[in-house]
This record gives sequence, C-alpha cells and structure tokens, in this order.
Amino acid sequence: MKWTYLGLVLIPLVIVSCTKDDPEPEPQPTPYDLDIPPFFPSEVYIPDDNPLTVEGVKLGRYLFYDGRIAGRADEGKYMSCSSCHVQGNSFEVGMPRPAPVGLNGISTGHAMLPMINLIWNPGRIGWNGSVANIEDDVYIVISDPSEFGSTNEKVVAAIQSIPMYPPMFEAAFGTREVTVERIAKAIAQFVRTLISSNSKFDRYMRGEEQLTLEELNGYVLFSTEEGADCFHCHGGSGNPLFTTNLFYNNGKDDSFAGESDRYSVTGDETMKGAYKATTLRNIEFTGPYMHDGRFNTLDEVIDFYAHALKWSPYIDPLMHHISNGGNQLLPAEKAALKAFLKTLSDTSFLTDPRFSRPGDLPVFK
Ligand code: HEC
Ligand code: HEC
Repeated sequence: MKWTYLGLVLIPLVIVSCTKDDPEPEPQPTPYDLDIPPFFPSEVYIPDDNPLTVEGVKLGRYLFYDGRIAGRADEGKYMSCSSCHVQGNSFEVGMPRPAPVGLNGISTGHAMLPMINLIWNPGRIGWNGSVANIEDDVYIVISDPSEFGSTNEKVVAAIQSIPMYPPMFEAAFGTREVTVERIAKAIAQFVRTLISSNSKFDRYMRGEEQLTLEELNGYVLFSTEEGADCFHCHGGSGNPLFTTNLFYNNGKDDSFAGESDRYSVTGDETMKGAYKATTLRNIEFTGPYMHDGRFNTLDEVIDFYAHALKWSPYIDPLMHHISNGGNQLLPAEKAALKAFLKTLSDTSFLTDPRFSRPGDLPVFK
C-alpha cells in the first residue's frame, strides 16, 4: 500500500523536474569515505552544513599548504596553516620555536597544539576551548595579528586570482565563487581527515604487536590511581584518543592572574589555571610541553607530575597525589612511563602522503 501511494506522489514530481528548460543538474561532490579505526569512538563531529567530500578535502589540502592564502604576497610575505602546523612534528611547529611568530612578527604567546584526531573534538578548540570548531578557527587565523594578520578580502582576492582554484571550488561547492566561508569549510574538511591510529599502542590493541615488559609496566602505571595516575584526564585503553577534551588545573602554579585559561572563557571560578588536557598521541614529537611550553622534554614533564605539583584552591580534584606533592615515581618507574608514552608515537602519520604538501604545489616563502 505504501509503495503505491509513494509511486503516485513521485511520478508527477519526476515529470515536473524533467521539463526541458531545466539546466543540467550540477555535478555533486563525492562523499568522502571515512575509515573509523578499530577501538575508536564511532561518534564523530562533522557540522551538518560541511560534510566531508573528496573534492572538499582535496581543496582544503591545497589551501592548507599554500603560502599565498594569507593575501600578503604584495609585501613579499607568505604564510599558510602549514607554516606553523608541520606534519613532521605531528602538525606542531616543533622545537626550538615553541610559540610561533606570525606575519607581523608577533608571537602567538602560546605553545602549539597538534592536529590529531580533531574529528572527535566536540567543539573545544584551542588550549582554553574558546573556539567552537575548526571552521571558526580559520577566520581567527586570517585576522589574528600573531598569525596571518590579514583580512577576509585580501585572502579571497589572493585565492580567486590563482587560476587553479576557481575550478576546484566548483568541484567542491558547486560554483566557482571563492568565499572565506568556503575556504574555512574546505580547510576544516582536510583537518578532519588527519587521523592517527597506527602507533605501537594501536597495533598492540589490535593484537598485531606486543609491548615490551617495560612499556607494559608504564601502561599499568599510567592507568592506575596508585601508580602515576594519568588516565583520568588523558584517556587510555577505554579512550584511545588519549584526551578527554576537557579542562583541568593540573597543579603547575599557585596563582593565576591574567591567564588565557578556561576561566577567561567561561567566567567559571573553578576553572582558573585550567587548560585542555591535550592528547598524548605523538607526544614524543610535540615539545615543548604545556600551554606555555615550560617543559622542554618528557622527562621534565614526568618529573613535574612526580615531585613538583603546587597546591591551589583551583587544582583539579583528579590530581590525587597532590598531598604528596606528586606521584613520587621511582627512577625505573619514570623510565617505564616514558617508554609507554613513546608507544603512542605514530610515525606513519608524520609521513602519510595524503596529509603532505601536494607535490605540484610550489612552496612560497
Ligand atoms: C603563526 C602560527 C600559526 C598559524 C599560521 C596557524 N596556527 Fe593553528 N595554532 C597555532 C597555535 C599557537 C595554536 C594554539 C593556540 C591556543 O590555543 O592558544 C594553534 C591551534 C590550532 C588549533 C587547535 C587544535 C586543538 O587541539 O584544539 C587548530 C584547529 C588550528 N590551530 C588550525 C589552524 C588552521 C586551520 C590554520 C590555517 C588557516 C592555522 N591553524 C594556522 C599557531 C598557528
Ligand atoms: C587532572 C588532570 C590531569 C592529570 C591527572 C594528568 N594530566 Fe597531563 N595535562 C593535563 C592538562 C590540563 C594539561 C595541559 C596543561 C597546560 O598546558 O597548562 C596536561 C598536559 C600534559 C602534557 C603536555 C601536553 C602538551 O601537548 O604540551 C603531558 C606530556 C602530560 N600532561 C602527561 C601526563 C602524564 C604522564 C600524567 C600522569 C603522570 C598526567 N599528564 C596526568 C591534565 C592532567
């Protein structure tokens, strides 16, 4: 019965939509086939108005790497996302330039965040989560004096004038029109495809490789309260992202005046000195550490959590070892914890050609 009814409704519709004067139907972009790795959450965050498409991701990749996008070629200045977000450093700038410098010579102030598995980030972009999604971040990068220091108009004009781009916009969005909204959408699509899931730890979880005894010891320390107690904030076996994407004060300081912490975004007093517990994936490659880059090595970070916690009324209750000043790991335990953290390194992500600069795109410096 239902089908007959549907048929009656559909036939007139088909006839109406096939009248002669209709323009050719526009070619639709191809849906991007997203592979969710085993053990990863099936729920991903893609805005309804910006689905992943093959053409959109491709365009985003070119824009991500094209130094002309800042729209300041007339001053001999070039910068793109990839100037700071370098694939070989898990999309951070890398040592020894913790806080990068934008086109106006102004420092970003903050150390960097990697671009890993952001498709699972539920709208908490940046150290303090002040940005709602990757698309919005592109607008900020354009105008921020410590990044491109440019304007939407200059960026659009620059991309519009490069002959290769309008056809790519047509393939991705249906028409040749270049807009900041489309630029932001395409780059965000590309960034959402940057998935890292091939570390030694992942292979261990998939039963493809064993961890050494030392790495396993480190894993146990990481995942137990009486051990190093890292898992509440940084995930673990039940949370393969190795971040909760939440904000905590992890006891680095005891006073918090004028910080760009989570409190500065929400006004919630309990969030003073709180920042996002970043993913520990590829942590080996993303020094220096913490939002202000105060620690240069993983050894310094491990020593901090072991002996140097500072009490304040804002320290997160999950910092269980605060009454002892830290988890007091012994030297062999620290070595094991570090060995485990290194099992989160995914070198294939650092060289994956799908994420690299397109071979035919010239470098602008
Ligand atoms: C001048 C260097 C610089 C450039 C250029 C730059 N970024 Fe960043 N990016 C940073 C820094 C520094 C942070 C950490 C900012 C913070 O939270 O304070 C960051 C953070 C981010 C984050 C947050 C990641 C997370 O885990 O929350 C995203 C997303 C991002 N950038 C996207 C982009 C995109 C897209 C572009 C190009 C349009 C770009 N960035 C260009 C320096 C840069
Ligand atoms: C109460 C939550 C919490 C616990 C427990 C915790 N961390 Fe963190 N961690 C954070 C937060 C928040 C940050 C970012 C802080 C900042 O930048 O100010 C962070 C940052 C880090 C960083 C630097 C990340 C980067 O990209 O710069 C490393 C490495 C790290 N933690 C490792 C560990 C280890 C190892 C343990 C266990 C010994 C641990 N954490 C326990 C919340 C926590």
